[in-house]
Order: sequence, then C-alpha cells, then structure tokens
Amino acid sequence: MIENPRSPLLHAIGERFLAEFGGEPPRMFFAPGRINLVGAHLDYSGGDVLPMAVDRGIYAAARLRSDGRIRLVSLDQKLVVELESKDVGMRTRPELGWGGYPLGVWHGFQQRTGTTNGFEMVIGADLPMASGLSSSAAIEVVTAIALDALLGTRLERQQIALLAHRAETGFVGVRCGIMDQFASALGRPGHVLLVHCAGPRWEHVPFDPKACEVLVMDTRKPRSLSKTGFNERVAQCATAHELLRMHARDLPHLAMYSMADLEQASEAMDEVLFLRARHVITEMDRIRTGAAALRRHDYRELGRQLDASHRSTATDYAVSCDELDVITDAARSHEAVFGARLTGAGFGGCAIALVKPGASSAVARVVAEQFTARFGVVPGFDLLRVGTGPGEIAR
Ligand code: GLA
Repeated sequence: MIENPRSPLLHAIGERFLAEFGGEPPRMFFAPGRINLVGAHLDYSGGDVLPMAVDRGIYAAARLRSDGRIRLVSLDQKLVVELESKDVGMRTRPELGWGGYPLGVWHGFQQRTGTTNGFEMVIGADLPMASGLSSSAAIEVVTAIALDALLGTRLERQQIALLAHRAETGFVGVRCGIMDQFASALGRPGHVLLVHCAGPRWEHVPFDPKACEVLVMDTRKPRSLSKTGFNERVAQCATAHELLRMHARDLPHLAMYSMADLEQASEAMDEVLFLRARHVITEMDRIRTGAAALRRHDYRELGRQLDASHRSTATDYAVSCDELDVITDAARSHEAVFGARLTGAGFGGCAIALVKPGASSAVARVVAEQFTARFGVVPGFDLLRVGTGPGEIAR
C-alpha cells in the first residue's frame, strides 16, 4: 500500500469512475514515470541503464466485471475503449488507440489465469504524456498492478515488469528494451535503479535529494519520429551486433564489445552502423563511471557523464534535435548545473538537468530565456523527485 496523496487528480479519477460505472468506490493504484540518468539506448543492446522512478505517473481506479466486458476511460483522451474480453486478440488495432497498452496487459493476465471476467478502469496522469517520461510504461505497469490485486495473482515485481514489457513489444508492437517497465515496477523510495539488462539483474542505488535536484525541461516538440526512428535504431544495433560476431568475437550482446573489437570489424560495416555501435560501446563506459560516481554521491562527475552521453546520442546515435541540443546547452551555461541530457528515446520531448539544490528556478529562468529567443516557444519545467514506486493506494 502506498500513502494516499489526496490529490485533486485522484479525486477526479474516483468521481469519473463512479459517474461512468456507478456502484461502490473502486480500488485505486499508482505507477510512476521515469527519467534515465545515463545509459541511453542501451537496454535493447544488453547494456546497463540507470533510471529513476519519479513522484509523478499514472493513477488508476479499477474493478473487475463479471459480464466479460472491458471499458477503459482516460481523463486525457476522448476515446473510450469498449469491447468484449474475448475479442481482445493477440495484437492491438488502430481503433483501440491508447487502449492498446492496458489491453496488452489484460491479454497477458488472460493467458496466465484464463479469466472470463472483464474489467473497467479510469486512468489519469500527472506527468506529461508522450514526452519521454515513460507514460506508456506507467499505464502498463499500473494496469498490471491493478489486475494483479483484483485477480489475486500475487506476482513479483519483476514478473509485473516483464508482463508489462510483453504488452508493449508483443501486443503494441514497439521493440523497446526493458528499462521503462523495470523502472516503473521496481522503483523504491530514495533510490535509483541500476539495471543490467543482459540478465536482467538490478540493484537499487541511493540518490541524495539534498545534494542534487532533477529538473525536467520539456521542449514541447512532439516526438514525431520516435516510433520509426526508434525501431530503425534497434534494427541497426542488431545488424552491427551480427557483423561484430562474424568479424570480431561471438558475444551475446552488442553492449559487451570493446572499441578494439569494433575497430577490428569496422571494414565490414558502413559508417552509420559503426557510429551506432560506437555509441553503445562508449555509453557502457559512461554508465560505469556514472554509477560509480552516484555511489559516492559525486554529482559533479555524474553530471559530466550526462553531458558526454548527450553528445554521443546527438552525434553517433543521431536521436537528438536542435531543440534538445539548445535546451541542454542553455542548462549547462548555468554554473549550478552538474550536467544535462535528453531523456527517453529522444527525437523531441524532454531533457533533464542535474542541478545544485535550490537553484532550479534560476536555471529554469536562464533556459527559458535562451530557448524562447531561439524557437519562440516557452519550454515547460518540472522538478521531479524520487517517488515511492508503484502500488495500491490506501483509502
Ligand atoms: C525508450 C524505450 C526504452 C529505451 C529508451 C532509450 O524510452 O522505451 O526501452 O530504449 O527509449 O534509452
């Protein structure tokens, strides 16, 4: 159980639920969004990532239905999703819209338990949607946490994460790695999560909020390319890995190779594949250095790794854009900033800056001025904290 935040959002979700479905007050659940400190685009190449589950995410009110129907409502979306549970199928369809995420999770529970029930759910978000803070993984995880409680399956958090991940890859069809679902499902107060995706194995590393603040800077640029560009990067990494296996050594994951291996195989690769692989290999050094810095609460060194990670994602991995480059440069121009980088897949959306405590408002002012002068758009800012992790909300 997690503490009831008594927020207006939770109240609005409860009200909407009773207006749509009537009956007794429903059970309520929460799953967090995440930012990733360092380890950009490493999860699907078997590398390490360092995400933090934040104090914002997706709230849900949910209840089983004995008539086998499913009805899903989001406070932020017009589309109300309605269908028979037996018609959910193996894959999402365009007319199901945002419903693909919760339905993919329902499909996983259907296969696991053989339930003939349906369910009804209202969700609401207090983090920006589709901007790189993992709202989709949080929808999947909150649905999984809710269904686990309602169906009494008592899954471990890792099983919740894997089931949510299968919803995204198998049902929705995005070839993402495991980072977002793991971050949301395994978040713990006061800690960030170091995930070794090849295992997967993970450890919780303390984060000191009195030594460092996390400022999220929203470029307000829609991540238009993110789906196609993302799947293209996944495919490029798979090809680079194949060539490394043939021309250097046979290792199970791209992130396990060294720069010497890459040099050895470079003749067999075109320049684009070489650059993509170079990002993955050098980002592994950055996450090792960054995680070691975090363990000794050296936020200046961690910040340097964020800066270097941003440069590599912009040049070698080509997932940045002018807006993300300008917003992170503007943040770095303030002396209270330890480091800054894009977060999530890139191609638009949000960046993060690690900031000395108390300085975030001043940093936001400087960044807003420079960004607005260049693009004529006022960026959004939010101070994010390490959250409680997911769970059912106490009444
Ligand atoms: C998206 C994906 C993640 C990860 C990041 C990049 O958020 O969903 O699995 O690959 O991009 O680090």
